[in-house]
Amino acid sequence: MDRISIKGGKSLHGTIPISGAKNATLPLMIASLLTEDTLILENVPHLADVVQLQRILNNHGVDVMLSGKRSGDGENKGQTVKISAEKIVDTTAPYELVSKMRASFWVIAPLVARMGEARVSLPGGCAIGTRPVDLLIMALERLGVQIEIEAGYAIARAPKGLKGGEIVFPKVTVGGTHVALMAASLADGTTVIENAAREPEIVDVADCLNKMGARISGAGTTQIVVEGVAKLGPARHSVLPDRIETGTYAMAVAMTGGDVLLENARPELLQSALDVLGQVGATVTATNEGVRVTRNGAGLAPVEVTTEPFPGFPTDLQAQLMALMTRARGTSRITETIFENRFMHVQELARLGARISLDGQTAMIEGVDRLKGAPVMATDLRASVSLVIAALAAEGETIVNRVYHLDRGFERLEDKLSRCGAEVERITG
Ligand code: UD1
Repeated sequence: MDRISIKGGKSLHGTIPISGAKNATLPLMIASLLTEDTLILENVPHLADVVQLQRILNNHGVDVMLSGKRSGDGENKGQTVKISAEKIVDTTAPYELVSKMRASFWVIAPLVARMGEARVSLPGGCAIGTRPVDLLIMALERLGVQIEIEAGYAIARAPKGLKGGEIVFPKVTVGGTHVALMAASLADGTTVIENAAREPEIVDVADCLNKMGARISGAGTTQIVVEGVAKLGPARHSVLPDRIETGTYAMAVAMTGGDVLLENARPELLQSALDVLGQVGATVTATNEGVRVTRNGAGLAPVEVTTEPFPGFPTDLQAQLMALMTRARGTSRITETIFENRFMHVQELARLGARISLDGQTAMIEGVDRLKGAPVMATDLRASVSLVIAALAAEGETIVNRVYHLDRGFERLEDKLSRCGAEVERITG
């Protein structure tokens, strides 16, 4: 199993190219199941989760072609992926495939909308709380799908097709909103989604579905209206930049000090996180090329932050902010409201010398003068990168074990950081 070695203490200087967003790529690839025509996605990141989803799509009979590099393409360019679900040969998504990645459960929506049936294993994914799918199932039922849970599978049937309806989410759910959008696009009649997630990745997927011929309005607001169409067609779409990757590297620069351009980043996708970085003492500037983050000499100020659905501070940056606050001058409070049990990084950060106590869903982080390198273990995708951020400021060497979590969501992390002066190395095997 690969490990990453980090020798802390170097400031970061240079340019980090921001990849296409994982959390948009996955639902976009899944949306390809809605049409027999080809969907071309550009700026797709090279990530283990993308490869895993490709396997799941292949199992349904979908052709996924990764284009080769053209001459002149830099290694930093995302890949172009052509996806053709001309014939769906199997409407079952088996446990062995779905259990590795939670978002793969979302295939249930396009499969039942186009084929009238789907049999999808209940999901696995990051171990950050129970993460049920009841609201995804509720959304499909509102569109006339009959669902039974049997032997760990959700079995969905709509032999006469889907019917538009009203879906009111009692809590904001990104996955629920994706599922509702995809299913409603091929339903007969109009669907109104209330309390919809407003995350930028929802808007990106809705844009792509509209290019495919869907009639979706209001994406990015709490009410989305979908007028169903009989068929969707081909489209070409470029994936938006990854706001979580952007925020992660912005926090890394705030941690080490330095001056880094986050190339292709779009500040409006993570304004709340950039505002917090401003309070902490980093300087964040929007430029034509992306977002520039600098921090010189002065120490880090503590903050109080609560995670919220977009446009609030994202739960996917909570662990990274906590790592940053381990070096603040004073005590910070971070409250997690989206997922229970998303504090598994606390123990590992403590191994590096962090002082963190938990009170329910709130973490109190007392800033310390120094962190010291140690062997640590990555527990989930975002937690693992928080350990990298802490290690960049720790004295001596930190070894991060189980980096397959990192590879699920961060493209060439060690390369991107070491090009900016960090001492980061992958140890394979
Ligand atoms: C997506 C993101 C993930 C991010 C999360 C919240 C992708 C691939 N993943 O996950 O990175 O951390 O949004 O921004 O885009 N819930 C229910 N019942 C349901 C569904 C959700 O109770 O049927 C709850 C969850 O347990 C959680 C909350 O709703 O407490 C939000 O979850 P949701 O927005 O659905 O997260 P995901 O779509 O799984």
